Amino acid sequence: MKFELTEEHLMIQKAARDFAQNELLPGVIERDNEQRFPAEQIKQMGELGFLGMMVDPKYGGSGLDTISYVLAMEEISKVDASASVVMSVNNSLVCWGLEKFGTEEQKEKYLKPLASGQIIGAFCLSEPEAGSDATSQKTTAIDKGDHYLLNGTKNWITNGSTASVYLVMAQTDVEAGHKGINCLIVEKGQEGFVVGKKEDKLGIRGSDTHSLMFQDVKVPKENRIGEEGFGFKFAMKVLSGGRVGIASQALGIASGAYELALKYSKERKTFGKEIGKHQAIAFKLADMATEIEAARLLCIKAAWMKDNGQNFDRAGAQAKLFASSVAMKTTVEAVQIHGGYGFVKEYHVERLMRDAKITQIYEGTSEIQKIVISRDILRD
Ligand code: CAA
Ligand code: FAD
Repeated sequence: MKFELTEEHLMIQKAARDFAQNELLPGVIERDNEQRFPAEQIKQMGELGFLGMMVDPKYGGSGLDTISYVLAMEEISKVDASASVVMSVNNSLVCWGLEKFGTEEQKEKYLKPLASGQIIGAFCLSEPEAGSDATSQKTTAIDKGDHYLLNGTKNWITNGSTASVYLVMAQTDVEAGHKGINCLIVEKGQEGFVVGKKEDKLGIRGSDTHSLMFQDVKVPKENRIGEEGFGFKFAMKVLSGGRVGIASQALGIASGAYELALKYSKERKTFGKEIGKHQAIAFKLADMATEIEAARLLCIKAAWMKDNGQNFDRAGAQAKLFASSVAMKTTVEAVQIHGGYGFVKEYHVERLMRDAKITQIYEGTSEIQKIVISRDILRD
């Protein structure tokens, strides 16, 4: 076993770090204040290949492994978690799902522009009354022969107004329960599809979160992903990969806050010495560094398992559960280390603390990750 990244990994990590520092950092505070989507930066990320990292180049992707994706997600998230959630949804929920389970026609039509970043996608599972309890879908997709008639409301959809393509879970056969759910590809602008209000959020304020309404939207049968009734399994399988992405986002938020805290600890002096030389601060840094390293190893392990064709459901859930908790703890401590300066926007750590919280909520709350992990352990 080697604990070394390859030359290619290091190159990708550096490219993501440079992009984050040069293109995302300037303006990140303003975008957060104004809840402004990083449109120009997302376009650049598409051009650099960060939006379809693991997709085969024949479909417009970068053809990289999941470890590269984890490394890039960490670097982007250190600076701007609003940009990295767009990256995570597009890569792991939308592109990966289409590449793994889509038809050749769906890949030609939708995956190519998504993977090359010409357009972005959204993943629509949650509803007002179906968040954690995701099988309780109220959105319906009634079979009308050559098309489905889609009706219902989705909540909290990332890239809600900025996406062009939406993967929408909906119930076709109520009697069949979760086996009666389908995933349909819906295009923006289809008649009866309305983008609802934008959410005013605690964190990741530059990201674009909306409710979506579907009223008698006609979706052609060829836009269903997989066999009839495969939609819930599709969502679960795709979310396993998504959780590796969000775990890496949490890791990045934590390591971004840690790097700022470390730098500040060497600069700020109290009682005649750098604050890092007070043991209380030094020990905080030691805990942060250790927990971040552990989170990174869990992320990389889950990515490695995915790349090697192993079942990574538990590993992805463990990475997300742990890394999101580390993100919360580390960002709170980073604010503490900055004292009063940590409480103001200029020093970035307060934003990272607000951004950290969402990693314990979306793509399955921490409680849901414990359900996934414990069921898997007990099954073993
Ligand atoms: N792969 C394949 N199939 C899976 C699976 C997986 N990882 N996990 C579950 N399934 C299957 C089960 O085998 C079962 O099928 P069978 O009956 O044929 O065996 C079916 O799915 C239903 O599973 P459960 O009986 O375990 O269902 P449950 O009601 O107990 O719920 C759950 C399971 C894990 C809690 C699930 O509902 C869940 O993950 N909830 C959280 C939802 C979530 O993560 N939402 C995220 C939305 S996207 C998002 O948030 C994006 C973003 O922010 C950026
Ligand atoms: P609930 O399910 O109502 O949970 C409330 C509380 O109860 C939580 O603490 C939960 O952990 C706990 N709980 C629930 N059930 C159990 C149980 N069985 N055991 C123990 N505790 C339990 N969804 C999408 O489909 N696509 C997106 O792009 C997307 N983006 C999002 C972006 C943001 C900013 C936010 C806030 C959410 C997003 N979501 C998205 C939705 C997100 O996945 C859900 O909010 C999340 O899954 C939790 O669902 P809920 O909000 O309905 O909470």
